[in-house]
Amino acid sequence: MAQCKVVHKPEMKEAARRNKDVINATYKNLVVSDKMKDIAKNRTYFIRTYGCQANIRDEETIAGILEYAGFKKANQIQDANVVILNTCAVRENAEDKVFGEIGALKSLKTKDSDCVIAICGCMIQQKHIVDIIQDKYRQVDLLFGTHNIDNLLNLLEEVYEKKVRVIDVESKMGEVIENMPSLRLEKYKAFVNIMYGCDKFCTYCIVPYTRGKERSRKMEDILKECEDLVNKGYQEITLLGQNVNAYGKDLHDGSSFAQLMENVTKLGISRLRFTTSHPWDFTDEMIDIIAKYDNIMPAIHLPVQSGNDEILRLMGRRYTSKQYKELVDKMKAKIPNLALTTDIIVGFPNETYEQFQDTLKMVEYVQYDGAFTFIYSPRVGTPAAKMNDNVTDEEKHKRFDELVKVVEKYATIKANALVGKTLKVLVDGASKKNKNVLSGYSEENKLVHFVGDPSLVGKIVKVKIKESHLYSVIGDLVDD
Ligand code: SAH
Ligand code: SF4
Ligand code: F3S
Repeated sequence: MAQCKVVHKPEMKEAARRNKDVINATYKNLVVSDKMKDIAKNRTYFIRTYGCQANIRDEETIAGILEYAGFKKANQIQDANVVILNTCAVRENAEDKVFGEIGALKSLKTKDSDCVIAICGCMIQQKHIVDIIQDKYRQVDLLFGTHNIDNLLNLLEEVYEKKVRVIDVESKMGEVIENMPSLRLEKYKAFVNIMYGCDKFCTYCIVPYTRGKERSRKMEDILKECEDLVNKGYQEITLLGQNVNAYGKDLHDGSSFAQLMENVTKLGISRLRFTTSHPWDFTDEMIDIIAKYDNIMPAIHLPVQSGNDEILRLMGRRYTSKQYKELVDKMKAKIPNLALTTDIIVGFPNETYEQFQDTLKMVEYVQYDGAFTFIYSPRVGTPAAKMNDNVTDEEKHKRFDELVKVVEKYATIKANALVGKTLKVLVDGASKKNKNVLSGYSEENKLVHFVGDPSLVGKIVKVKIKESHLYSVIGDLVDD
């Protein structure tokens, strides 16, 4: 049995620590040792990512680092020499999937003892999960966290050279590391991190503990990355952060999200998106900038979580239902063709049926274009997980079904309203079954299917909508 070297284990108390120190960016020059080059030669990797865009962007960095060392991407997980599961901790079902997958990977190890199985991402930032994997899943060779991706090659080298299992997952406030290589997964659309971490500590949420302190990248570094994407022919940039409206506050140099958006639009990118914005602190200036520039897409994801003031207070969301509605009214008044989407949690501890009704009323008031709906999942170490809960699972599922019906009603109304309209679509790709069936997203972020030549992939075209479904619309290409 391989020995286990524990460098760091995560610690919830440490993860909750915040101080006011400004975090300066570190410009790192990745060095690949000769040993690592030897290891990487003729070896392949495969990364499976769960969770949100932050993890997708991390996958791009991990892939970039591995390819920089000389690893090649395997076509499928079974063929890879290094398998990495990049995990999410936001709800229990996300974690269950990963445990299932780790179990299934045991056969890879039996087939090829040289195969290295590594797990990273938010799930691993929790001590109880690290303990379970260390004790019960011995096929796993390496655990690294969200804060030390830049050290991946050193950790891998240790696993290969010393034949030990390595655990290096630290709970830190976090750093800003620049200059890491990255291999972008898409050719026309790109995610750009503008900040990391979260300081909001909503009482149900694990993210602030897994991702650390809210810290912004310097405006000039973000703009350099965006400019490079524009020069490479990218059509769409999505600015990423758990709370993009908090961008710049920690830099103390006057940088703000509104200013950042304006600067990115001026680089000449065809489409600019951002996610996610917290309803708290969404400034008028931000709304004005979104309304002013045609290349900022009129699609805003504005998680509401609940429509009831007492539940919002217990969730620590920092706004009331009235304030949320006022914000939505302001956005709708100023931003033409605005599409609004949201996240909603049902069954927060002790939520009454009447309180849940307020959430339905909110959906009816806003008439969202779409919503991600979740049943509350207790997360170890969060304040909400310590509350007694008198709502049964059965009741939570009933409310969930009721909510989905109302959400789908408005999503259908919104999709139907697109019929007859001509939408601008960035063409993502062709259907696997028929290369002339193309699909892409409209400015409002609606999935659009239409018939066209595959040479249109990567271009923005006009499509007149003739048919609508719940999650997509179908149309005909319009000649200019
Ligand atoms: N930073 C983003 C959210 C990231 S998590 C934001 O605040 O908008 C994405 C969504 O997962 C949240 O909006 C919330 O609706 C849901 N979520 C987070 N923790 C959860 C939990 N413990 N149980 C159920 N859903 C949860
Ligand atoms: Fe979680 Fe709230 Fe931060 Fe979003 S704002 S990541 S829901 S703590
Ligand atoms: Fe999941 Fe971590 Fe994102 S918990 S939702 S992968 S920030």
